Amino acid sequence: MPPPNSLLFPSLLFLLSFFFILIFSRQVGKKSSSPPVSKLPRSYPLIGSAFAIFKNRNRRNQWFAELIRDSSNGTFILHRFLGVRHVLTANPANVQHILKTQFHLYPKGHTARVNLSDFLGDGIFNADGDNWKFQRQVSIHEFSTRSLRKFVETVVEAELSDRLVPILSKAAAENSVLNLEDILQRFAFDNICKIAFGFDPQYLLPSLPSAEFAVAFDDAARITSERLNSVVPAIWKLKRALDIGSEKRLRIAISQVREFAQKVVREKTRELEEKSSLETVDLLSRILSSGHLDEKLVTDMVISFILAGRDTTSATLTWFFWLVSGDSHVEEEILKEIRDKSETPDYDEVKDMVYIQASLCESMRLYPPVPSDSKEAAMDDVLPDGTIVKKGMRVTYLPYAMGRMEGLWGQDWREFRPERWLERDEVTGKWRRFVARDPYTYPVFQAGPRVCLGKDMAFLQMKRVAAGILRRFRVVPAMEKGFEPFFISTLTSKMKGGFPVRIEERKGR
Ligand code: HEM
Repeated sequence: MPPPNSLLFPSLLFLLSFFFILIFSRQVGKKSSSPPVSKLPRSYPLIGSAFAIFKNRNRRNQWFAELIRDSSNGTFILHRFLGVRHVLTANPANVQHILKTQFHLYPKGHTARVNLSDFLGDGIFNADGDNWKFQRQVSIHEFSTRSLRKFVETVVEAELSDRLVPILSKAAAENSVLNLEDILQRFAFDNICKIAFGFDPQYLLPSLPSAEFAVAFDDAARITSERLNSVVPAIWKLKRALDIGSEKRLRIAISQVREFAQKVVREKTRELEEKSSLETVDLLSRILSSGHLDEKLVTDMVISFILAGRDTTSATLTWFFWLVSGDSHVEEEILKEIRDKSETPDYDEVKDMVYIQASLCESMRLYPPVPSDSKEAAMDDVLPDGTIVKKGMRVTYLPYAMGRMEGLWGQDWREFRPERWLERDEVTGKWRRFVARDPYTYPVFQAGPRVCLGKDMAFLQMKRVAAGILRRFRVVPAMEKGFEPFFISTLTSKMKGGFPVRIEERKGR
């Protein structure tokens, strides 16, 4: 029986997709023993550089960094399926142009909306125009000095001393192996929920409770990012229409994430109705009290905040501990700085930890939590390096590639060297001042009007955690000697397979 008309299009797409997958797997299979290409990829009519994109799909950031190094001006155009051209740049002048000078020409745009909306809805990470402005305005209070002081001196402090330290102590006593990435994610998740939603999910408990929500959240982020990077976008659209494969998993994961976020919103709404005034005002209370938002938008905002607060700081700290564990000089300098401060440092002391700040910046230069970030041209334009951009083209800047460019960081760019961010006081010999790089050379927190709202909060949290752990423990990778962990990314980055470690109590603290 012939398929009904409504199924004709999906069926054709399915056949087309099958055909391409077959060709890709053959092409890739043929040369599986040869290293992936680094010169600018060949482009064919209709399919563009689909073979190279597919071949490098699991090492996208590394591949882009190689292509950037081979380009003459730090920019190249990737030819995608059906003649779609995608600008990728690591040129600071271009980054300044798209993030600041011509900000109005480079919104998130249509492609982001189509790909991200199922997961992020209209939350701040997927919003443009007035909706974005409103969410930024309402969220900005969360990051005042008063809130940040409270955050580091109470929320982070309690999570550290009541939950994290006891778990690490136990691991040290039992000589057991922990996945530090998982522990840090749990820590960051509890933290962001407490400060932003006034709610404690208790994910960092000694029993390390199974975190179904976290698994669903990771699945949703991974599959959504696969959509953004798919070789043939029609394939995921077809899978969604038929509710099969990864798109079916995505639908289930998103419904779990939404259910959780909705529960948080409903409980807070009930709490607000019951109490005439709240002792503490978190972001969620403020949003709900503003009154003119529907539940769906508030739920979207909660999901965006979880994404912002959970995965970025935990990824940074994971790589930070990996790098520090392999560098006794850096570890010594950090210990000197920690021992110069009180055992429970207050807000000002944490702010003053310049060597740890430099070490974190250096970790993020090599392993940025958001390794690439895309905009879409609202009009025809020309970038400062002469690249012609047509309306609707995707323009992506690449913090991962930028952190690895000799032209920006010098010949020693491969080295983990916090000193490149510091000035020493000649008289006292102490590290005196943190010297930031301009945000277009180092756009790890983005830059311009949409610069990360949580940057100061993130540094306070990460510095306090780094100091709290390293003062008392050594973190020792439980990996084979010479093993190099692999950097991967979905919407944010991770260490492939997690970070297995043993914890040792420091003697004579
Ligand atoms: C190491 C930690 C962090 C890094 C590297 C980082 C990086 C970024 C980047 C690259 C963006 C731009 C994303 C985009 O527009 O596509 C961003 C936006 C944002 N970040 Fe962060 N972030 C970090 C931690 C945090 C934390 C802890 C929060 C707190 C909740 C936070 C809140 C936000 C918010 C609300 C935005 C949206 C800003 C806007 O669109 O106007 N971030 N961040």
